[in-house]
Amino acid sequence: METSTQSDDWTAKDIPDQSGRTAIVTGANSGLGFKATKAFTQKGAHVVVACRSLERANRARREIESMVTGASLTVLELDLGSQASIRQFATDFDSEFIDSMYFSTTLV
Ligand SMILES: NC(=O)c1ccc[n+]([C@@H]2O[C@H](COP(=O)([O-])OP(=O)(O)OC[C@H]3O[C@@H](n4cnc5c(N)ncnc54)[C@H](OP(=O)(O)O)[C@@H]3O)[C@@H](O)[C@H]2O)c1
Repeated sequence: METSTQSDDWTAKDIPDQSGRTAIVTGANSGLGFKATKAFTQKGAHVVVACRSLERANRARREIESMVTGASLTVLELDLGSQASIRQFATDFDSEFIDSMYFSTTLV
């Protein structure tokens, strides 16, 4: 039987088609979160850009929209250091399904 193993030369290009799927990415405005958001949108996912600064989140959204044709993005505020913000995010997030969660948040 053939088994799947992790490959050293795996890249974001190996992500399968994400059309019709929804991903939430925390810390999406910079670093790994930004790269993950770009990769998910390039593969057709709808991505919820979950950041504690709406200004930085919208800047990231505009940058990705300029790089990825047809990118589908929603910006929502989420400060993972605040329970009130987490509860508000859960209220604001109005989709029934989440297919992927990508946590890229530096919390001290
Ligand atoms: N980069 C790498 O190669 C690498 C390798 C291994 C592990 N890591 C780990 O992966 C994580 C992300 O790394 P990175 O390089 O992408 O860091 P980064 O560029 O500094 O990004 C961190 C993200 O976390 C967000 N964040 C911080 N506190 C938050 C909070 N309370 N609520 C919501 N978002 C918050 C930041 O938002 P603001 O812009 O608002 O501050 C930023 O978007 C870190 O824990 C890092 O140690 C990174």
